[in-house]
Amino acid sequence: MRQPSALITGCSSGIGRALADEFHQAGYQVWATARQSADLAALRAAGFSAVQLDVNDGPGLEQLAERLQAEIGGLDVLINNAGYGAMGPLLDGGVAAMRRQFETNVFSIIGVTRACFPLLRRNKGLVVNIGSVSGVLVTPFAGAYCASKAAVHALSDALRLELAPFSIELMEVQPGAIASSFAANASQQAEQLIDQASPWWPLRDAIRARANASQNKPTPAKQFAGQLLAAVQRSKRPRLLRLGHGSRGLPLLTALLPKSLLEALLKKRFGLNRSL
Ligand SMILES: NC(=O)c1ccc[n+]([C@@H]2O[C@H](COP(=O)([O-])OP(=O)(O)OC[C@H]3O[C@@H](n4cnc5c(N)ncnc54)[C@H](OP(=O)(O)O)[C@@H]3O)[C@@H](O)[C@H]2O)c1
Repeated sequence: MRQPSALITGCSSGIGRALADEFHQAGYQVWATARQSADLAALRAAGFSAVQLDVNDGPGLEQLAERLQAEIGGLDVLINNAGYGAMGPLLDGGVAAMRRQFETNVFSIIGVTRACFPLLRRNKGLVVNIGSVSGVLVTPFAGAYCASKAAVHALSDALRLELAPFSIELMEVQPGAIASSFAANASQQAEQLIDQASPWWPLRDAIRARANASQNKPTPAKQFAGQLLAAVQRSKRPRLLRLGHGSRGLPLLTALLPKSLLEALLKKRFGLNRSL
């Protein structure tokens, strides 16, 4: 029997690495991407086909697709996982931070999926897009990230319909809090933005707290990855999968609470209920 294949982006740590492990153990040939050579070496040592890729690198994507075409000819599962959290006040980060966030979290999904389309079409494959509960329950000091994930959810809905005639399925995943390097990276990124000249300087502790929020009672990445794999292996796959701490409760809260009450709670939580 033919060995199934999976291409997973952003496998240096966290969710990507855990998914690579789970799919490998389940018998998939895993193509795992990372950016740094030390991460690539670790992925190779774990038995994956490791590929250096920055998801924003157009020529790199073409080379990867050509390599997959030559070596396996088709692709069963593509997991668009690579991403990061741009934290901090929207107006502090400005257009540049927003653009960078969308390049990596949103536009790259189109770039990677487009490059892999002929391979997915050949195998009647599956695209898995990693969104976030943050695209559903929007908070301050994570506006660029929340907007990027809401965009991922919207584009996933359109793409699912457009891929249907080719028998390519699309599953959208909205993780809650999952143990990974996400918060450490988000905090590091937020620290670069936190500046005494910012109008939001008095709220720097709230900004820091938001950057760390994904590590609030996080679900282990291995558990998350095992559940995602199980969903991929179902004969009737869900179109939307909510996994991890807060992934069901927070959207429910968003749906049930009047918007004005939700905003009052968020203002209180992040110190935005006073004049600055
Ligand atoms: N952890 C959570 O609570 C949570 C919740 C909801 C959604 N998510 C989503 O889950 C996905 C994985 O995040 P994670 O939690 O596993 O965080 P993570 O441990 O920080 O992993 C993020 C991965 O994305 C890679 N990446 C970032 N920018 C990239 C780029 N331009 N090109 C290629 N790779 C890039 C990183 O590579 P480098 O090591 O080279 O930077 C890393 O491998 C993200 O899309 C994130 O938004 C996470």
